[in-house]
Amino acid sequence: MSDQYVLPAERLRELSDGNRMPVLGLGVWQVPDGRECENAVLWALEAGYRHIDTAQAYGNEASVGRALQSSGVPRDEVFLTTKFYPARKDPAEEIERSLERLGVDQVDLYIIHWPQGGSTWAWPGMERAHERGHARSIGVSNFSTSELEQVIGAASTPPVVNQVQFSPVEYRRGLLAACERHDVALEAYSPLGTGRHLRDRAVTSIAERVDRTSAQVLLRWCLQRDTIVIPKSTHQERIEENARIFDFTLSDEEMSELDRLDQTGGTEEARERKWW
Ligand SMILES: NC(=O)c1ccc[n+]([C@@H]2O[C@H](COP(=O)([O-])OP(=O)(O)OC[C@H]3O[C@@H](n4cnc5c(N)ncnc54)[C@H](OP(=O)(O)O)[C@@H]3O)[C@@H](O)[C@H]2O)c1
Repeated sequence: MSDQYVLPAERLRELSDGNRMPVLGLGVWQVPDGRECENAVLWALEAGYRHIDTAQAYGNEASVGRALQSSGVPRDEVFLTTKFYPARKDPAEEIERSLERLGVDQVDLYIIHWPQGGSTWAWPGMERAHERGHARSIGVSNFSTSELEQVIGAASTPPVVNQVQFSPVEYRRGLLAACERHDVALEAYSPLGTGRHLRDRAVTSIAERVDRTSAQVLLRWCLQRDTIVIPKSTHQERIEENARIFDFTLSDEEMSELDRLDQTGGTEEARERKWW
């Protein structure tokens, strides 16, 4: 991670295992494997992103790997996350396939994509991937407080990240508090509501007031709630726009106004509806 340390401190989050993770990343869910995905990753790296979030289930690890290589950015400057597809049996085996597709020796973060089949069965395989040096850090995704606590209870190496749906409209205060209590970093996925929250009246009105875009307001809210954020876009100008979130601050009033958009009741759950 040599040059990651060149990122200013405010752009890095120290995880409980001592590794550091850039607080802004590019997400590539629903980006087809091929030119579109490669371009998005290349544009993100050009715009200064040093963190890419992919998954075995996305089917685009090979494109992420190709873009990484052709970008010329040294491997150890980029924080790479992939996710274990929990319909498979063995995380330690599956990561070897991911590494081949990505063309790297290890990922920076490997997380269980969702707790299908229970919260703890896959963890020993995640720990094996970690012990073998295939993943520098390991974590979970879509885990509620109780599921997170079950893994922590069963773990030799505890999870350092829980990646969950999180935005002002899904302000899972209870889950965030539990993550903080257990020294697990909450990583906010779908921070723009997969695009839906960009049109919210409160969001657009704050954006107008602070002379920023809706996307920047939503992403900034995540940063000020101490989460890591991974917006997705396949458009160069939006990828650049989404990175310009470190040069302004939302006031306490603006933060509270956004907090009030929550529709989860401050839940400790990770999802209202589960797909697994
Ligand atoms: N662990 C999980 O189960 C899980 C689940 C969902 C997501 N994730 C991760 O989180 C990432 C982000 O979540 P997401 O993909 O649901 O969506 P998102 O980042 O909340 O929103 C992406 C959508 O907003 C649009 N957009 C992005 N920036 C914009 C801007 N500045 N102005 C206007 N529109 C903009 C994008 O369109 P264009 O692309 O056309 O620009 C796209 O339609 C995913 O890619 C994935 O890496 C993880």
